[in-house]
Amino acid sequence: MKRQESWGTRVGLVLAMAGNAVGLGNFLRFPAQAAQNGGGAFIIPYLISFLLMGIPLLWVEWTIGRNGGKFGHHSTPGMFDVMGKKKWLKYIGVFGLFTNLTVASYYCYIESWSLSYVYHSIVGTFFETKPTEFFPAYIGTTGNNIFAFPQEALFWFLLTLGLNVWILSRGLVKGIEMAAKIGMPLLILFGVILAIRGLTLTTTDTGVVQSPLEGLNFVWEPQFSGLTNPTTWLAAAGQIFFTLSVGMGSIHCYASYVREKDDIALNASSAGWMNEFVEVLLGGSILIPIATAYLGLNMVQAATAGGSGFGIGFLTLPTLFNNWGWFAPIAGAMWFGLLFFAGITSSLAMGQPIMAFLSDEFKFNRNKSAISFGALTLMLGLVCVLFYPGGSFDEFDFWTGTFSLVAFALLEIIAFAFILGIDKGWEELNRGADIKIPTFFKVVIKYVTPVFISIIFIGALIKPSTDWLTAFSNLFSGLGWPFAPESVIGKIFHVGSDKYKWVVDGMFTSDFVKDITRLLLAATFILISYMVYIAWKRKKLEVNK
Ligand code: ALA
Repeated sequence: MKRQESWGTRVGLVLAMAGNAVGLGNFLRFPAQAAQNGGGAFIIPYLISFLLMGIPLLWVEWTIGRNGGKFGHHSTPGMFDVMGKKKWLKYIGVFGLFTNLTVASYYCYIESWSLSYVYHSIVGTFFETKPTEFFPAYIGTTGNNIFAFPQEALFWFLLTLGLNVWILSRGLVKGIEMAAKIGMPLLILFGVILAIRGLTLTTTDTGVVQSPLEGLNFVWEPQFSGLTNPTTWLAAAGQIFFTLSVGMGSIHCYASYVREKDDIALNASSAGWMNEFVEVLLGGSILIPIATAYLGLNMVQAATAGGSGFGIGFLTLPTLFNNWGWFAPIAGAMWFGLLFFAGITSSLAMGQPIMAFLSDEFKFNRNKSAISFGALTLMLGLVCVLFYPGGSFDEFDFWTGTFSLVAFALLEIIAFAFILGIDKGWEELNRGADIKIPTFFKVVIKYVTPVFISIIFIGALIKPSTDWLTAFSNLFSGLGWPFAPESVIGKIFHVGSDKYKWVVDGMFTSDFVKDITRLLLAATFILISYMVYIAWKRKKLEVNK
């Protein structure tokens, strides 16, 4: 067998893995989710989810990855195939390609906004055009259409994809590892500078209405009320999935390049904790404190509605930076530069599994697989860009960036604990380990985490539009279950869209766009499954030759 690619240095590996985790989710989604879910009330369920679900899943994914790499597999279908004898196991791995490809398609679009905003901050666009007007025009949501052709946004999207493809084509050490070694320190530096500037704002500064520390307090002061609210738990667990990139297939891929006898237990923990440090300490110290200082807490909560953080990150913050005089363009460039570095080190991790699949199973060379990843991402991404106003982007985010992660994580932890077997899995995890993982986690991985994820999964399926107690009392008094529009079942049946129709007055509606987007995603999943089928059929033919 030809010598396999592997990481250059341990620091490089941990930075690449931390770069995979640290992303737009840390700086936009986390503060927005925290603000929407009661600040300090969110933090406790969030930290418990990290310990009981995040960390165990990281260990499981690193283990599945390193084990797969031993057999020459660097993408999840092959890794799951070697976990047991059943032929269908490899199809669980389809998730690990599907999720990466489809998340990359909309994620790179957000990444491209950041890159473009670095430029616009530096040239001073936001002194002349209000960001609140710039952004809708930029992405094409000013009219009532379902379709837009945002030329400038398309240009930056292509450029961003091109950069991703170029870095990926340079390989693991010269591409991904190098990008992480440059991007991670810079983003932390920018983050620290912005946090210090933000937190030292006082009411004597122009425009400041209250201390930024109020914002910090709001996020960090633990409140036990969140513990009894299932909706807060769902949001907290959802954030843990997204921010750690668990349930995606990218961690498996990176871990498959770790040598058989090298540590994974400590490396996984270091990368995971580094992500939490950046998320809670830095992610919690920029957006909310600065916005609170100028706008007050109530407005901050209004600006984070929806929980994506786009509004506060791309509209509010650049507006507020204008109060900083000569420092405004620099602050803007640092903020969006930080987002861009966070984003690209994550999207590279979404590209590598696709490349690995094409090169392991279809013998594509590095350039050909990088270009194929770029082309596929462009095709799917264009749907998000052009039909953004019709809701395509949000469909991608929900089905691929939220639902699929939980579904894959549930399947993989069951496969790990019960098909590979917890004893074998535990031994594999601990081989070459530089730390002693408390044996208590063996029980956590086998029982606690799967039950935890199952509850989250069911909760997401049936989340009610009322609070949970009212929903149960409704159910028991025969009034049925009030599905929330954002529950999985609510989405499937378009709950809340009172006049569900594909065409109104001869024009396609956003219901149409949403359904077509779902069909496209389903078709993508089926196509990847078919490619896995073909790849294994070929392998069989080769063995029989
Ligand atoms: N983990 C990546 C993020 O937080 C996807 O953005």
